[in-house]
Amino acid sequence: MHADTISQSPSRTVLALSGSLRRNSYNGLLLRAAADSAPAGMQIQLYDDLASVPLFSEDLEADAVPAGVRRLREHIANADALMIATPEYNQSVPGVLKNAIDWLSRPPDEVLVGKPVAVIGASAGRWGTRLAQSHLRHILYAAEALVMPQPSLFIGNAAKLFDSTGRIMDESTTRVLQDLLLCFDGWIANLSVGAEVTARVG
Ligand SMILES: Cc1cc2nc3c(=O)[nH]c(=O)nc-3n(C[C@H](O)[C@H](O)[C@H](O)COP(=O)(O)O)c2cc1C
Repeated sequence: MHADTISQSPSRTVLALSGSLRRNSYNGLLLRAAADSAPAGMQIQLYDDLASVPLFSEDLEADAVPAGVRRLREHIANADALMIATPEYNQSVPGVLKNAIDWLSRPPDEVLVGKPVAVIGASAGRWGTRLAQSHLRHILYAAEALVMPQPSLFIGNAAKLFDSTGRIMDESTTRVLQDLLLCFDGWIANLSVGAEVTARVG
């Protein structure tokens, strides 16, 4: 089992991907909090197997797509949408996240094309992953994902945000997260209506 089902409701599924492999990662905790705050009808699953995606090489790709890449692709293809929480490493996204997106962007299984995506992030520093999120949006644009433009969520000083059980201690942050998820629900719904109309009229 590589994705842990967190909330109950059935209709819209969101795969949640953290750009950190760290145990007790703030970004992992943020996604867990998102799963707990999901609006009715949205189910958020945490993907916990990013570590099995090997470093991208066109040689490796030509041999056979590695199992870790296949699994991630399948989970994304089967979800209605993707939520990514990114740490900031040296003012950009961590290499593991960029590496995974490089794999996902490759034909013939370009699972990010047309996929609704929400970007959030948490950092121990003051600026709350502003630069990393900006870079991530740019990369996802290249992969032709449909990234929700607003609202954004930049969590700085993350060490002070979570209690010892990993829950968000600050009510206003929880409210912002809930509002963001409601907007994301609308973003996914609007895009799926758009996709249906496009399919109908060709
Ligand atoms: C290699 C590396 C570079 C980092 N660079 C930045 C940075 O540019 N800006 C920042 O706010 N934090 C930076 N940090 C601190 C991370 O924000 C912090 O480690 C954070 O906890 C990572 O997210 P995680 O808890 O989800 O693993 C860096 C950490 C590492 C390991």
